[in-house]
Amino acid sequence: MAGIDYAEKIPNNVNLSEDKTLQRALEHWQPNYIDWWKDMGPDGSQDFDVYLRTAVSVDPQGWAQFSHVKMPDYRWGIFLNPREADRKVGFGEHKGEAAWQDVPGEHRANLRRIIVTQGDTEPASVEQQRHLGLTAPSQYDLRNLFQVNVEEGRHLWAMVYLLHKHFGRDGREEAEALLDRRSGDQDNPRILGAFNEKTPDWLAFYMFTYFTDRDGKFQLCALAESGFDPLARTTKFMLTEEAHHMFVGESGISRVIQRTCEVMNRIKSDDPAKVRAEGVVDLQTLQRYLNFHFSVTIDLFGADESSNAAIFYNSGLKGRFEETKRDDDHQLHGRHYTVLGVREGKLVEREVPMLNALNEVLRDDYIRDSIGGVNRWNKVIEKAGIPFRLQAPHKAFNRKIGALSAVKVSPDGRVVSEAEFAQHEKAWLPSAEDRAFVASLMGRVVEPGKFANWIAPPVMGVNRQPVDFEYIRFN
Ligand SMILES: [Fe+2]
Ligand SMILES: [Fe+2]
Repeated sequence: MAGIDYAEKIPNNVNLSEDKTLQRALEHWQPNYIDWWKDMGPDGSQDFDVYLRTAVSVDPQGWAQFSHVKMPDYRWGIFLNPREADRKVGFGEHKGEAAWQDVPGEHRANLRRIIVTQGDTEPASVEQQRHLGLTAPSQYDLRNLFQVNVEEGRHLWAMVYLLHKHFGRDGREEAEALLDRRSGDQDNPRILGAFNEKTPDWLAFYMFTYFTDRDGKFQLCALAESGFDPLARTTKFMLTEEAHHMFVGESGISRVIQRTCEVMNRIKSDDPAKVRAEGVVDLQTLQRYLNFHFSVTIDLFGADESSNAAIFYNSGLKGRFEETKRDDDHQLHGRHYTVLGVREGKLVEREVPMLNALNEVLRDDYIRDSIGGVNRWNKVIEKAGIPFRLQAPHKAFNRKIGALSAVKVSPDGRVVSEAEFAQHEKAWLPSAEDRAFVASLMGRVVEPGKFANWIAPPVMGVNRQPVDFEYIRFN
């Protein structure tokens, strides 16, 4: 297996030095990337020494090495999983052909679009999270935020490498444009809606890393099946990094819940106002944040019926989640799938050709996976002896994309009038008041081993270090 060459200006395991033109092009992009990082990366952090993991090999047993580094000096690079001998296209009309090492001309435009769309989400999330360091609840959490940020930066590198290597001049232009767009910018926003939302506080950050990084997982899993082998190999490695991002979200919310439940039991009250008066997040507010992040994230899977999804699948570019583990014909002609639609103001199930419903198939797989974590959060509440339970909202709730965006639906799945939705909106989605309350809890806690009042400490530190380890040297 090709080890990672850290002697190179751009660390890589793809023998970059053998392709001088490509190497020069990427070395030309590199300073622009660093400028972007300094401009849009974590606010005020340039000089911190952060205890970060860096990839040393793509081997799942030992890819990470931990040390204190300044983030602008992080060794961002290009790491692909090793090539599988005789890999075949696993689905669609090219099923059984040898996987492509180069871009097939006929699929070039679609493939570029897929790579650019994925690539765009990576710097977007760094931009969304850039102010969070100023209100970190602990050094441990601050370090985790920075780890997520540098890895999203590396995910951008992963996509930019493909653009430079396989798409010539268009690819280089797209790589520049990835550094030009800005999350939430009026004139030049990021491509997808959820990546233009704000991540204003740490509760939003944990929800984002739980729900929206999980969208990343599902998109990457679908691309890891791609017949275009370099895309499959790079997304497979990205997935190992994504697992940590979702851990940050799941454990973060779990710790918020734990702290809230401790306080509820101490004051013997479930009154949200009394809970808030203790400086912790009431469970109702948590539920509203969950409703928001869940619904915004499931929109990322796109329209429930989509001819593009069919084309991407048919042409072998983007598979289903765990495509290779499924035992069907991997072509799906003549097969159907049930999607939820709207008829005469009611939600109705409809059978549609599965090929056109592949966004919905992926969304449903995602929903199943994300509900797993909600159940684990509920275990924390249950263990504290509190009867409240969190719930993922109905998939038709608060949708902006697809057939379901045509109706207003309550979190429990009832179609409601505009007026009824407006009347309940404050109970269903975070209000300005909720956000202001959560913002009021955010204060910077950076003494080693100390944690903000609203969150419990983690069970374990990073890389077997103690929880009060000096994860960041502020210099
Ligand atoms: Fe990512
Ligand atoms: Fe991520």
